[in-house]
Amino acid sequence: MAKGVPAFTCTACGAVHRKWAGKCDACGAWNTIVEEAPLTAGPKALGARGKGIELTDLATEEAPPPRAASGMDELDRVLGGGLVPASAILVGGDPGIGKSTLLLQAAASFAHAGLKCLYISGEEAAAQVRMRAQRLGLTNAPVSLGAETNLREILTTLDRERPALAIIDSIQTMWLDTIDSAPGSVSQVRSSAHELVTFAKTKGVAIILVGHVTKEGQIAGPRVVEHMVDTVLYFEGERGHQFRILRAVKNRFGPADEIGVFEMTGDGLAQVANPSALFLSERDKPAPGSAVFAGIEGTRPVLTEIQALVAPSPLGTPRRTVVGLDSGRLSTILAVLEARCGIPFAGLDVFLNVAGGMRVNEPAADLAVAAALLSAREDVAIPPDMVLFGEISLSGALRPVGQTENRLKEASKLGFTRAIAPSRSKLGSTTGMEVRQMSDLTAFVGDVFGAG
Ligand code: TYD
Ligand code: MG
Repeated sequence: MAKGVPAFTCTACGAVHRKWAGKCDACGAWNTIVEEAPLTAGPKALGARGKGIELTDLATEEAPPPRAASGMDELDRVLGGGLVPASAILVGGDPGIGKSTLLLQAAASFAHAGLKCLYISGEEAAAQVRMRAQRLGLTNAPVSLGAETNLREILTTLDRERPALAIIDSIQTMWLDTIDSAPGSVSQVRSSAHELVTFAKTKGVAIILVGHVTKEGQIAGPRVVEHMVDTVLYFEGERGHQFRILRAVKNRFGPADEIGVFEMTGDGLAQVANPSALFLSERDKPAPGSAVFAGIEGTRPVLTEIQALVAPSPLGTPRRTVVGLDSGRLSTILAVLEARCGIPFAGLDVFLNVAGGMRVNEPAADLAVAAALLSAREDVAIPPDMVLFGEISLSGALRPVGQTENRLKEASKLGFTRAIAPSRSKLGSTTGMEVRQMSDLTAFVGDVFGAG
């Protein structure tokens, strides 16, 4: 874009637009486009030739960098097996979800494991952070604490201290004095993150950036810096629930989609080693509309309860309310049930929910969703010792999904004895489970709900 021309930038995704608009074409968010200071011209056309860089081949004798484990297993697993030196990590999440709590506990664990840790807070005064540490029982952890927002001072401090890990809480409060816009603006957030990531790579300091998810307004969201960092973690959870899930959405050093489960308690976040037991613990006696999905999150099997409620609608356009699942997926499954199995949901309100505040993204949940919907509609409870999984295709066929054996093992461990899976699933050697394999949804409806 030409020099001096005002630029309009989306605070949610960072896309640059020529003129203001109510909706960002790039990410679809509303009211997120703000005017930024004019862009400075990019580099001029290259005249003289550079000196050329030295190239090497891929072979190396070097051992992979040692990872530092914090001892918090839920965190280490999401990081891909511990903290990689000189890596840049972004931890995003809604305000108040518990990011500062998590990272203060992580800093203390890493410090106890022998890493030199620095915690820089731009949001709270040092005394406030100390008070939180006191509440969490972490006052004896050897963590160095600083309260500062000026990045120049922070970088100088990091250069002097050379910690193994520096936590910056949050990136939206940081500002560079070379940039002429307010802290939190897209250009400040992007440039501050760039400076910190470059510092991490060149000086060998691992950096964790905290980013608040912003719904609208003048503050840039964490998505603006996602592409700059090695690892992107989101800390999620429903406000009313005590469960918190740390999810890796991008990881250059480990599997994406890995989750760590925590519980927010009166004295900080407690790790949940067996999330399936926890998510199912609230289940009361078998009721229509409830189905247990045997899912996989990253490398770990997790059982969740899918709940549905179907009721006659007083509205012309019936309601479709979904919590914890993709609403597009619900529409697809309802359409398949209607078109392939002849079971209409027109005139009925449908509410769908994943118990415990969990979010399920796997297509393998389709069959459990369909089962919960049918069970609610027909008022027939699904046997309490049954789990389900399988992807539903538009033709109504059930498609096999990955890691069948792991799903069945976890279900068996939790006392389930029956499973419904797509045909051609690779069962492996699971004992103690009666597995029924079905090729399409019509067969499933006939089998579990009579003629449907
Ligand atoms: P915080 O870590 O400040 O959130 P963030 O940094 O993501 O904005 O956590 C805020 C919430 O966590 C606050 O509403 C209170 C709750 N909390 C507890 O329930 N127990 C605790 O021990 C702590 C420290 C916080
Ligand atoms: Mg905070």
